[in-house]
Amino acid sequence: MATTTLTLFLGVLALTSILSFNAEARPQPSDEDLGIVIGPNTGLDDDLGIVIGPHVSEDLDMVGPHTNLEDEELGTIIGPEFEIHKHDFPKDFIFGTAVSAFQVEGAKKGSGRGLTRWDEFTHMFPDKVERGDDADIGVDFYTRYKDDIKLMKELKTNGFRFSISWTRVLPNGSVRKGVNKEGVKFYNDLIDELIANEIQPSITLFHWESPFALEMEYGGFVDERIVEDFREFAKFCFENFGDRVKNWATFNEPSVYSVAGYSKGKKAPGRCSPFEVLNCPSGDSSEEPYKVTHNQILSHLAAVEEFRKCVKCQENGGKIGIVLVSHWYEPKDPNSSKDVEYARRALEYQLGWFLRPLTYGHYPAVMQKDVNIRLPEFTEEESEKLKKSLDFVGLNYYGAFFTTPLTNTNSSELSYTNDLGAKISPEQNHSPHLKTTSMGIVIYPAGLMNLLRHIQDEYKNPEIYIMENGMDEIDNGTKTLAEATNDYGRKEFIKSHILIMGKAIRLHNVRLKGYFIWSLMDNFEWERGYKMRFGLYYVDFNDNLKRHMRSSGKWLSEFLDSKESLHKCYFEGHREKGYAPKLFDTEYLDPDNWRLSYASDI
Ligand code: BGC
Repeated sequence: MATTTLTLFLGVLALTSILSFNAEARPQPSDEDLGIVIGPNTGLDDDLGIVIGPHVSEDLDMVGPHTNLEDEELGTIIGPEFEIHKHDFPKDFIFGTAVSAFQVEGAKKGSGRGLTRWDEFTHMFPDKVERGDDADIGVDFYTRYKDDIKLMKELKTNGFRFSISWTRVLPNGSVRKGVNKEGVKFYNDLIDELIANEIQPSITLFHWESPFALEMEYGGFVDERIVEDFREFAKFCFENFGDRVKNWATFNEPSVYSVAGYSKGKKAPGRCSPFEVLNCPSGDSSEEPYKVTHNQILSHLAAVEEFRKCVKCQENGGKIGIVLVSHWYEPKDPNSSKDVEYARRALEYQLGWFLRPLTYGHYPAVMQKDVNIRLPEFTEEESEKLKKSLDFVGLNYYGAFFTTPLTNTNSSELSYTNDLGAKISPEQNHSPHLKTTSMGIVIYPAGLMNLLRHIQDEYKNPEIYIMENGMDEIDNGTKTLAEATNDYGRKEFIKSHILIMGKAIRLHNVRLKGYFIWSLMDNFEWERGYKMRFGLYYVDFNDNLKRHMRSSGKWLSEFLDSKESLHKCYFEGHREKGYAPKLFDTEYLDPDNWRLSYASDI
């Protein structure tokens, strides 16, 4: 006991000396029962070159977390508790909200916007979208953006992430085929209004809306001709908006675009091989996802080249990166070496697929081995350029999954999913108390810590922005206003992740620069339509799309106004505590509905 107390004391002293926050360290209470749950599997895999699992090392000893013996079997590391205030985050830290053009703008008709592949998908395959919803109206952000900026102010946020709809500015995909001035004006006005309200715009160039004209011409991202068209689009945006926008991302979740769109057929363009679960009119799941990824990476490179040449962007201090999604993976059975191996594989297939080329110039070794000749290669020149193509990493984090090898795969059915060969599920053997969201993703704030540290260790300690994090719920529009706005679960979800971010910066010097919550308001959730909701604002589809602040939004505004602090959250510790109260009536997986029963897009 005396030793423990001494260790704790020394640990706190050491911690105090390495704080990177601009505020003074707060007194650190006891270590009992709090803290970071880090994955049960430890190990270095030479082949994969990654370490997954607890970062049990000297630096942890330094900062004083203590292993709780009772939790040892789970591999849990219990860390010190913190109290975190908004002003504990670095001064230039961005707290923002996020949306994407297709999901919110609407204004499909009469605004000069050209068609995208998603317009086609929603209208041609309504059976692939919940209730046959489409995004023709979205939540009418196009005409209501000024009022929506007031909502951002109300939340006290200082950042807003949105995407540019390629076909709103270039209706047929390229400058030579015409520019839509009204679309350019819309984004200029939006940017100016944000800046006038002291909200920093953060732009994503491609959030899955491929121009239909280019799809018809050569098939969009399956063809390498897309690279030069994307270069032109990116250059056009830098020239028009780069004098005011400092934070740029080329692609949003390119892995989802490749896998859900070209291997599983779940999302536009809805392509897959005949053996996949969904019926696709055409496609080839064995090759197309890899080609599409390759072309997205080369398009990223082309855009970055243009960005470096854009004088106004450089003078404005602009930075460019990419937004990648990754879940945190743990073995379904931590005692099974196969399950452990498959957790590592899943991380490499999802995050490493992009972050290895963008950091080291080549695809992950494990994918080169498995996918072999179906995996395109980079030239030496491309590899060299790729290594310098990121100013920051954007990370979308929603939660965790558990892995075990897939059984009964047919070796003639080649696809991304079968190459990975992992069964990715929310079921776990060692921690039955974890909760899933309505989409089936395991709520696991500690996974964010693991992922941040993995990126820090494995990918040369880049600057990181969390570009999306949030929690869904199902609401068909049948809830009362009081029910719909009382989102205790989402509030706790957000609090837990903010606490983890604070710890990541403070304990581990993770170079975290911003946090964007998905989403400002409910919107068109792709193939799940409007009933799947993520908003800090509830949108009433029965009353002229009126926005109403939810309690999560209220809490956020109070935290950002320094009226609320954080020291302990429900989700962060619930694995240890072993209780999991019900959050939403409809949050549980719906076994009869494939769209809700399995969330992973990889
Ligand atoms: C996407 C968003 C989406 C969100 C919630 C991310 O995969 O970037 O467009 O709405 O997750 O599912």
